[in-house]
Parts: sequence; structure tokens; C-alpha cells
Amino acid sequence: MDMVYLDNNATTPLDPAVAEKMSWFLKEHFGNPSSLYPIGRQVQEMINEAREHVAKALGAFKSEVYFTGSGTESDNHAILGVLEAYPDKKEFITSAVEHPAVQQTAIYLEKKGYKVAYVPVDRYGLIDLDFLRSAVTPRTALVSIMYGNNEIGTIQPIEDVVRIAKENGALVHTDAVQAFGKIDVQVEKLGVDLLSVSSHKIYGPKGVGALYVRRGTSILPFLHGGHQERGLRAGTENTIGIIGFGEAARILPEKFESDRARIERLAARLKAGIEEKIPKVRFNGHPEQRIKSTLNFSFLGLEAEAVLLALATKEIYVSTGSACSEELEEVSHVLLAIGLRPEIARSTVRLSLGRFNTEDDIDIVLRELPDIIEKLRKISAFNPEDV
Ligand SMILES: Cc1ncc(COP(=O)(O)O)c(C=O)c1O
Repeated sequence: MDMVYLDNNATTPLDPAVAEKMSWFLKEHFGNPSSLYPIGRQVQEMINEAREHVAKALGAFKSEVYFTGSGTESDNHAILGVLEAYPDKKEFITSAVEHPAVQQTAIYLEKKGYKVAYVPVDRYGLIDLDFLRSAVTPRTALVSIMYGNNEIGTIQPIEDVVRIAKENGALVHTDAVQAFGKIDVQVEKLGVDLLSVSSHKIYGPKGVGALYVRRGTSILPFLHGGHQERGLRAGTENTIGIIGFGEAARILPEKFESDRARIERLAARLKAGIEEKIPKVRFNGHPEQRIKSTLNFSFLGLEAEAVLLALATKEIYVSTGSACSEELEEVSHVLLAIGLRPEIARSTVRLSLGRFNTEDDIDIVLRELPDIIEKLRKISAFNPEDV
């Protein structure tokens, strides 16, 4: 039996076209892009082509895209780089449901003496715009609110965030790592000043990301050293990673609409099947304003880890709660923020679909999962009256 990979929010498989481009590049091009002779210049040109592809996919100018070492680095750089550029503004606003790449940076800032406000969310994970309106002041340097949530998929109203922030002269960053490739991410439409993306969520290689910085935005370097990335990101470029990321971004617009329609259809079938076949499940996330390929379910009365391991014995791969690094946290802060009790949060499993999932995958999960849940509930002395 082939594996069923339903953890595309954690990472995506490499698209075969990306793998092909990367292996060609690896064999043919070892030059340092900073070298002035042809084998260096050629690689610099290829990096700029990759930049063009990422920029095009985001609706940005090429000059507004900087390559980084990950989505995490893009988030850190956006936040710390802007705050350093505005030493007189000591306030930062983010949300209660951010990925650790932003959440932990906010905690670091608090320790450094910044005033940090965390915008709460409702039971669907949508931010409270009234709270944001009352929290933002002329001393706010930056508001950082994610676009699509990695755990429950909820899509935040970024255009409203931008409007509110601008009224007070604050800049806006959005972590679009999870949204990019799944919904249309266009920087002009959103109106943000900074935006983070990551290659390994769009069928590209790991360890490379990009930061969009709107023309004219003040931001200081995060790494110090050479002049790479026009002085904003020192260090010899991850050339192979950037070439792969560029290829993944080149393919993205071509496949976007057909991928999206197909993946959303599969996800809708899986969601309906789980809700029909399994009693006592709770769906988490916004019913509509959501990345539809993300399905987050609490299987009441069970430990999510037991479900994950039982599925893994059938070569079905999903994740519990969050997911870049599951061992980090006991109970997901996102699930607590939408009001779940800790024991319900602990029973939560995320199934996330992507480009390479098939109807067969959904058939297999809908055949195996109800059985697994029933058996686990028998041995866990599950009492439906308790939940
Ligand atoms: C919303 C979000 N932001 C940031 C990241 C971190 O990206 P990277 O793994 O490239 O560091 C992730 C990864 O899961 C994510 O989902």
C-alpha cells in the first residue's frame, strides 16, 4: 500500500519539475554568485530569475523580494528589522494565534522592554478588529498578523488590519507562509508593507524563504556581513535552494486554479465523510473564511497522539495540533485561543491536503479512520456523556 500523506501544512513533497531543475543546477553550477567571472555571474542571473518568479507569484516587483533561510527567518527579520529601524516606537502588535516564528519573536521583544499587544480571536479563530483598533497608537511601529493559520486554516482580514494600522502610521507585516500557494496572495491587494513566504510549503526545497519588503519601507539587516541580497541578508546564498524555490514559484500560477479546485473538492469529501462516519467529532476553524485544504478535528475523548500513531501504522500521515515541531508544545495555543478546553485541544488532529493527494487517498482514510477511532475509544473507556 502506498502512503497517504495528509500533512501538507507541515511540509510539501518536492514537485518533480523542481527536483529536476535542482539536480540539473547542482551538477552544472557551483559558482559563487558574488564572483565577477562568468560562472559566478550566471548563478547570480539565475538567482534573479528565481526572484522574478517569486515576485510574479506575489504580484510584487522583483526588487521587493529578498531571499532568506526560511519562513521563520523572514518573520524574524520583518519584525526585528523594522523595529530596529524605528528606535522611538516601542510598541508592537500581533495576534494570539501566530506561528511560533512570530509568537516567540513577540515574547523576545517583551523581554527587551517593548510593549506587545496580542489581538484575541473568536471561536473560529478570527481576530477582534475592535481590539486592534483600540491597541494601535502612534507609538506602534509594526502590526504583524498572519494571513492563513497553519493549524485551523482561518484566513484573517488583512486588508482591514492594514486600514486600521495606517490610520495610526504603523507598518503591517503578514506571515503568509501557510497561505501562499493555497489562496491567492497578492501584495497590492492586501496592501501590506512586509510579507513572509517559505519554499517548502509550495512544493519547493526546505531551508529557503523570502521576505517581501514594499519599496520605501525602512528595515535594517538581520544578519551582518557581506553585501548579498542588496545588503539586507548577508551570507553566500543558498543557491540550490533558491533555484528550487524559483522553479516552485514559476509553476505555482500555472497550476493554482486547477490544484485549488481539485484539492478543495477532495477536502470537502473528506470532511463530510468524517462528520458522517464518526460520532463525537468537533470541527475547528472558520466554516467559510478558511484555507479549505486544512481540516482540523477534535476526536472527543481521545489523545491525538494515539490517533496519529494508529494512522501511521497504516501509512497514513497526519499531525496533532500545531506541527512544524510538535514536541515543543503540550497544548496548542491556537486551540486554546479559540476557546477549546485543554483536554479537547489534546484530542485534535490536523489533516492537510496538497497537490499530490488523490481520490484513493480519501477512500483509504474514510475506510481506516472510523475503525481506528472506534477501537481507540473502546480501550480509552470513552464516555460520550463526559464530553
Ligand atoms: C504560518 C507559518 N509561519 C512560519 C512557518 C515557518 O516556516 P519555515 O518552516 O520555513 O521556517 C510555518 C511553518 O510551518 C508556518 O506554518
